[in-house]
Amino acid sequence: MDLNLLNDKLVNKNSLSKIIYFEKLDSTNVYAKQNNLDDNTLVITSYQANGIGRFNRLWKSTPHDNLTFSLIKYFRLGIEEIHFVNFYSSYILCNMLKFEISHYKNIEISLKWPNDILLNGKKIAGILLDVSHLKKDYKKFIIGIGINVNQKDFSSDIMHKATSLSNEIDFEISLEQLLIRFIENFYSRLNFIDSKEELMKLWILDSHIKGKKVNFKKVEDDTEQEAVIMNLDNDGGLQMKFNNGNISKFYSGEINFIS
Ligand code: BTN
Repeated sequence: MDLNLLNDKLVNKNSLSKIIYFEKLDSTNVYAKQNNLDDNTLVITSYQANGIGRFNRLWKSTPHDNLTFSLIKYFRLGIEEIHFVNFYSSYILCNMLKFEISHYKNIEISLKWPNDILLNGKKIAGILLDVSHLKKDYKKFIIGIGINVNQKDFSSDIMHKATSLSNEIDFEISLEQLLIRFIENFYSRLNFIDSKEELMKLWILDSHIKGKKVNFKKVEDDTEQEAVIMNLDNDGGLQMKFNNGNISKFYSGEINFIS
């Protein structure tokens, strides 16, 4: 990882205040939680040995191939608005990736509720958010992001549903360049977090989920149920119709498309 380049491009008064790099680390999110890091600090590692995914799954990433980092950012948001940081981060990530590989043919990048990025239907990036200072006006977010960039092989349990950018476009991509683009985009559009309706409109456009049949997994009890997606509302809630005819709205959970 070219730290000089990253510091040069990203550490300035409108962006990051500090970059902390480790050749190897268990998890950038865990490191960020265990150390009292300031606003706008980025923790990044070339080899995350015990990365954490949503639902406490392992986020596997082969050494030196991918981006695994956590950004510490404070936002002035109410409790009920916390999930917009998810939507903002995933939208920026999706948009940046689309732009970066727009010249390649037969590539479709889309968003999968609540915060995954898919490339031709397979997952290439995920976000894990940790929030603290919940009683304060300014809440502290640890935005953990994993992007599969140049990884070639995936273990048999995920090979049919995960991929990397380089696997799909047959070309290695610079990790530094991708990270620089993401951070630049993230900081240049921060006022978007205050235009939630606009943000959700764009998010929904990139998500293509209306009418899709899914298996829905609840966060609370890990149970799965089949449903059809009715709508993704401007408040980030996903409306689904279940097999028993009930329509309910959820703000967290996981969907898996049934093809
Ligand atoms: C998901 O399950 O989709 C979320 C994956 C988030 C992985 C990233 S990699 C950097 C950061 N550190 C972690 O331990 N997890 C997040």
